[in-house]
Amino acid sequence: SSLDFSGYLKNRIRTVPDWPQQGVMFRDITPLLQNPKTFRMLIDIFVYRYMEEKVDLIAGLDARGFIIGSVLAYELNVGFVPIRKKGKLPFKTVSEEYELEYGNATVEMHTDACKPGDRVVLIDDLVATGGTMLAGAKLLKKLGAEVLEAAAIIDLPELGGSQLVRDSGLELFTVCSYD
Ligand code: PRP
Ligand code: ADE
Ligand code: MG
Repeated sequence: SSLDFSGYLKNRIRTVPDWPQQGVMFRDITPLLQNPKTFRMLIDIFVYRYMEEKVDLIAGLDARGFIIGSVLAYELNVGFVPIRKKGKLPFKTVSEEYELEYGNATVEMHTDACKPGDRVVLIDDLVATGGTMLAGAKLLKKLGAEVLEAAAIIDLPELGGSQLVRDSGLELFTVCSYD
């Protein structure tokens, strides 16, 4: 239809086969960000979704979640909190380890990044196995925040991550899906 925002955005997501390794179809959002129309359309989808939700904070996941999360926070006139990969944040942190395809990784957030009862939306670019999003949500909950929803541009449902996130009781919103 004339309102197929998802299809319009998907046309600006580039698939790079076998990157960073054999068998991976890498979904590259850089063309979508580069084009002012699709960048604005993407941000506006999130802005209209959350503008009436009394959001206190946007939390963005290092690194690609920062690109959309910070712009969304600015547009909603709320603060932005970075959830970073291990060892990058200078103050006291809470941390959460999660599984990768090979080995594991850790994300961290400052202990004063949010307070109990804060209404937070958690943003990343893509959900694959769901490990990153789930770890981010755990950090926010550790500090007593209310995670209203996790949101991403892209869902890769075949990897089971979006199901896992929803099964954990977290609401998840994604704009485009690759089956
Ligand atoms: C990618 C992507 C998501 C995550 C999704 O980040 O940006 O954050 O993987 O995978 P998962 O659902 O299996 O956890 P990555 O850690 O590769 O790095 P970047 O964001 O710093 O580019
Ligand atoms: N992160 C994990 N899997 C990915 C994929 N297929 N494309 C882009 N980023 C990813
Ligand atoms: Mg990432």
